[in-house]
Amino acid sequence: MSIESVLHEHRTFTPEEAFSSQAAVPSMQEYHRLCAEAAQDYEGFWAKLARELLVWHKPFTKTLNESEAPFYKWFEDGKLNVSVNCLDKHLDTIPNKTAIIFEADNGEVKNVTYKELYHQVCQFANGLKSLNLVKGDRVIIYLPMGIEAVVAMQACARLGIIHSVVFGGFSAKSLNERIIDAGAVAVITSDGQFRGGKTLPLKQAVDEGMAMGGCESIRDIVVFQKTGQDVAWNDQCIWWHDLIAGKADTCEPVMVDAEHPLFLLYTSGSTGKPKGVQHSSAGYLLHAMNTMRWTFDIKPEDIYWCTADVGWITGHSYVTYGPLAMGATQIVFEGIPTYPNAGRFWQMIQRHKVSVFYTAPTAIRSLIKAGEMDYTTHPNHFELSSLRLLGTVGEPINPEAWMWYFEQVGGNRCPIVDTFWQTETGGHVITPLPGATPLVPGSCTLPFPGIDIDVVDETGKDIPWGNGGLLVIKKPWPSMIRTIYNDPERFKSSYYPAELGGKLYLAGDGAIRDTKTGNFTIMGRIDDVLNVSGHRLGTMEIESALVANHLVAESAVVGKPHPIKGESVVAYVVLKGKRPEGEEAKKIVAELREWVGKEIGPIAKPDEIRFGDNLPKTRSGKIMRRLLRSLAKGEEITSDISTLDNPAILEQLKQPVN
Ligand code: WTA
Repeated sequence: MSIESVLHEHRTFTPEEAFSSQAAVPSMQEYHRLCAEAAQDYEGFWAKLARELLVWHKPFTKTLNESEAPFYKWFEDGKLNVSVNCLDKHLDTIPNKTAIIFEADNGEVKNVTYKELYHQVCQFANGLKSLNLVKGDRVIIYLPMGIEAVVAMQACARLGIIHSVVFGGFSAKSLNERIIDAGAVAVITSDGQFRGGKTLPLKQAVDEGMAMGGCESIRDIVVFQKTGQDVAWNDQCIWWHDLIAGKADTCEPVMVDAEHPLFLLYTSGSTGKPKGVQHSSAGYLLHAMNTMRWTFDIKPEDIYWCTADVGWITGHSYVTYGPLAMGATQIVFEGIPTYPNAGRFWQMIQRHKVSVFYTAPTAIRSLIKAGEMDYTTHPNHFELSSLRLLGTVGEPINPEAWMWYFEQVGGNRCPIVDTFWQTETGGHVITPLPGATPLVPGSCTLPFPGIDIDVVDETGKDIPWGNGGLLVIKKPWPSMIRTIYNDPERFKSSYYPAELGGKLYLAGDGAIRDTKTGNFTIMGRIDDVLNVSGHRLGTMEIESALVANHLVAESAVVGKPHPIKGESVVAYVVLKGKRPEGEEAKKIVAELREWVGKEIGPIAKPDEIRFGDNLPKTRSGKIMRRLLRSLAKGEEITSDISTLDNPAILEQLKQPVN
């Protein structure tokens, strides 16, 4: 997205009366009142919400403990169980309400009520108990999108087991690293998965990951039978259906401290090793619920659909936890937006009468293109009048895609909430509230009430609106990351760097506020993290994967703007042998792409690989990444390259292999 285009965006859409009059936060006046309440009595603001929204087994008396900052604790003497808050709570009020409408890849639909889901979770939890899994154990979940994934996560929560979901698109190697880092004692997986009409293996990756070594902590591998394909078996493996056979369908929940870790979720940072972001139980759930209420304006009669996979934070907060805790009816979709054709999302919205729809800009951009090419996949071809609210997440949305979403999908009627947040923030931190906030295409607008977020300079000082700077959060908030698992020092240095005074949470994004409205525009990552199709990838992670290949001596990876994916991955590679050309170069490109797919996952495969005899470096040996970014974009190099040690190689690096 061009920052210029957003900064000069003058279109503003104020909420319509019909929406505002029924909204949880119905006006800017109310929004400002909430913000003022938080400013006046910060702890009181959150304590009130925590008492109102969460079901406590033992009420808390202390709201915030800052004595070990930045390792903040919220509601620390309270006790609760997250699965009780998502399921048991509803048994008296809405037992027969549909919790999940599951649509399979092939279009088959299965509904589960709150009561049924509760029993499934309890039964599976009893299965986990029979494996001697106990509170505090770490369990890896590597399942396709579906009811079982939600059941597995909720069952862990019921027992105080800390889950770490690994996205099904990550490789055996990634799985291996996460098992080791988390010290996991069990893996929950399936034989395979259905995606886009194909049957793909999943258990096989677990086997390969285990075979890479270091996974001695794993005692059991629970396998859900999804596809019926053949799987290798040993005495560690047990079928899900055998595990639950004969087990009771009620299960006493294990009450945990508010701060008990609910889950770890690995995400890319600016070094090679993914970070195990650790979240709490109470504070995390509180914000997931409150954002469901204020951002998504969720109502009992809504049919809500968040298209994210549970392998990402969005699927945690806005599929597994937030919607269930709010008693919503939601769609869980197994497939992909382009199968059997690019009309799938719109067809599903029509079929299930979806009213609140939440997806990623990259999906929207790809569907715009598809709809132009084949009108039968265009939103206009479907009955979408059930929609009342739209949302986006994961990356900046360019104003043109925003307008298309607004007009073609939302029929000029539905507000769009462009929600900015991160794995580390647990839930939305900057977002419009749909009944209140005037919308500006391409801007995520204003802070969520209670989140003290702002833009500062490199020393942590406030800067006037209208100037670009670093996005920071000035006060701790309940759903914030608690630590990086096994690496508290890295937590401190990554998120509370001394350069900014050690008290500001550094988001890692650049941002700018509009001089009149204070609206935020996100300018993208300031560190070596790429955002490819809404997925976070560390450039260092891809570089480490490349140099692990026997052919590669050195590599540097940068992002390049891409019309659909947001960013694409460009890898500059120096081989140990001669710089390849022609057919040989093509062959090595294919090999290296496959290699990265195996090391990290298909999402990390470089879109382009360029070979050089060397990489452009300063005389002190630093790779000149800015120069590589310009080269990737095909820009003329006009900057000063006098410090460049080896200018001759620039010509080599200008062209991708094709
Ligand atoms: C980016 C996803 C602009 C940002 C929930 C952030 C966004 C990273 C937006 C976190 C948005 C997310 N506008 N950029 N609405 N939402 N981002 O951890 O760079 O997968 O730091 O969490 O995505 O990605 P993550």
